[in-house]
Amino acid sequence: MANKNNNLYWHQSSISVDDRRELNKYKSCVIWFTGLSAAGKSTLANALNEKFHSMHIHGYVLDGDNIRHGLNKDLGFKPEDRKENIRRIGEVAKLLVDAGLIAITAFISPYREDRHQARELVRDDEFLEVYVKCDLAECERRDPKGIYKKARKGEIKEFTGISAPYEEPEKPEIVVDTTRNSIEECTQKLLDYLIGNGYIEERLINGC
Ligand code: ADX
Repeated sequence: MANKNNNLYWHQSSISVDDRRELNKYKSCVIWFTGLSAAGKSTLANALNEKFHSMHIHGYVLDGDNIRHGLNKDLGFKPEDRKENIRRIGEVAKLLVDAGLIAITAFISPYREDRHQARELVRDDEFLEVYVKCDLAECERRDPKGIYKKARKGEIKEFTGISAPYEEPEKPEIVVDTTRNSIEECTQKLLDYLIGNGYIEERLINGC
């Protein structure tokens, strides 16, 4: 989105993200969950954040349903609203990374282009796209909020997977399949990736 004001000047913080990281024993980044409604994004995001908490890692979950109660309550589900939803969350996640946190985002984020733009806001190694894979039939079977039923009846318009598209990630850093694996197994896969790629140190698992 174009900047509407030309008379703005960037104020450089005297403390950098690297200074903040030096205090921590982990590298701040964005863990961007994407997938259908009821695929398990929020559940996984929270399970991962619980692990982080026990490891003294500062994580923060930004969750679609929650953010749409506040910051993004002016937005609906038309493509341009979803775009703006993801743009704002990308910007918030960028701030959290700068603050030294691990930002965990749980949004359907159905459009590749929008996810790509969120990725572009931070450095290459600061954005990890996680495809929470779960086929539509299983999401409909789970239907914890009863919204697929409503969407099938036409009571909810432009519903992702039913009457609006979901574009699968082409090259996500991580894929977790919640139809084949438990939340614990998926969480472990994520932790293994973070440890294996130098985002967090293995010794933190034991609280050291
Ligand atoms: S996104 O597409 O813009 O990324 P977001 O993750 O914020 O979506 O919100 C998705 C949640 O909003 C769903 O889990 C569901 O509870 C609710 N919802 C309400 N209407 C729709 C709709 N038309 N399509 C998808 N989700 C919807």
